[in-house]
Amino acid sequence: MKNKILVTGGAGYIGTHTCIALHEAGYEIVVYDNLSNSSREAINRISALIGQPIEFIEGDIRDAEMLRQVFLSHHFFGVIHFAGLKAVGESVAKPLLYYNNNVSGTITLLEVMAEYDVKNFVFSSSATVYGDPEILPIDESSSRSCTNPYGQSKLAVEHILEDLAVSDTRWNLIPLRYFNPVGAHPSGQIGEDPNDIPNNLMPYISQVAVGKLPKLSIFGNDYPTIDGTGVRDFIHVTDLAQGHVAALNYLERQVAPVGFLPINLGTGKGTSVLELVSAFSDVSGQTIPYQFTDRRAGDIASCYSSADKAKVLLGWQAKLSITDMCQDTWHWQSMNPNGYNVT
Ligand code: NAD
Ligand code: WQD
Repeated sequence: MKNKILVTGGAGYIGTHTCIALHEAGYEIVVYDNLSNSSREAINRISALIGQPIEFIEGDIRDAEMLRQVFLSHHFFGVIHFAGLKAVGESVAKPLLYYNNNVSGTITLLEVMAEYDVKNFVFSSSATVYGDPEILPIDESSSRSCTNPYGQSKLAVEHILEDLAVSDTRWNLIPLRYFNPVGAHPSGQIGEDPNDIPNNLMPYISQVAVGKLPKLSIFGNDYPTIDGTGVRDFIHVTDLAQGHVAALNYLERQVAPVGFLPINLGTGKGTSVLELVSAFSDVSGQTIPYQFTDRRAGDIASCYSSADKAKVLLGWQAKLSITDMCQDTWHWQSMNPNGYNVT
């Protein structure tokens, strides 16, 4: 058995897939989640897929006392920190909630880690920290700026991690900057389960395909891109999960601390909104009705990663195609039209 990892937010979309990948790689995991955007059913499904009960603690990252109890009763090699709120629009309406949850919550977690001398930290950052990029593909040295409270909360945590690395050189702090995670576990048992009408493209397309929503609105067809629609670096969530395993393996191999080490997790390839709609339609055999509407405020034309740093340092690269992403999303959506809400 390998090292033990605390997975905050492990009941969520990316966390569930990463728990499975960590288990398969031999890590022992403890999930800590307040279920504010997830459900116990997700935990049950992880247990069923790995064939053994998973250790789950319902708790909030802002609750230092509860975290202390967890660190007292386990010896962790490190923490993968997914817990956070992620809806851009909601963050504009409720900035204090986002800063409290995402920034204060992370500070509390880091304080408790320091108390228990756990210094390996992998953080869910986002390509959103790059704002509207000047140069494509985007590498990790690109300038950072954000325009909404969600993005600001990710950037604020990155700055905190940079300062922490300077203050105490024993920390290993890896913000993984995800591009656009999509897809689902190939079993069809776990996937993305938005609470309400989806904000993001892939879950919206899949809910149109399954008949839950009448039509997709495509936000803008006058961008300077291949077909006028936005271009993004979609990455399969199981590839993303493997990126976390690679980051932990990398930390295990180090003889000296790495400090603050940001790494992109993307495929390096851009796909337009219309290309994704067409691929999903081919895979599912469903027509996806759509209409063009105005651009969405705050959207950028194109965003895709340079994936070189992850390849060189972590020995990781994304393997799965846009077809795989659509196939697995469709499998999950058609098997679970109501997500984890099985009643
Ligand atoms: P998710 O909402 O499915 O998962 C987040 C989990 O964190 C949920 O289970 C939620 O209940 C939990 N959580 C939230 N606040 C908490 C708190 N205070 N204490 C304990 N648990 C808490 O989101 P996801 O898509 O799996 O994203 C995981 C992380 O990756 C988030 O930090 C998100 O900002 C980041 N990220 C996501 C994307 C994306 O497109 N999905 C892209 C870039 C970065
Ligand atoms: C992708 C493309 C839209 C919905 C967001 C967050 C980012 C990160 C990932 C967390 C864009 C278009 C979308 C729809 C559309 N999350 N679109 N109709 O905006 O790249 O990134 O999720 O860190 O922070 O901002 O992803 O899936 O919302 O949009 O036409 O109904 O699809 O305009 O071009 P985005 P997305």
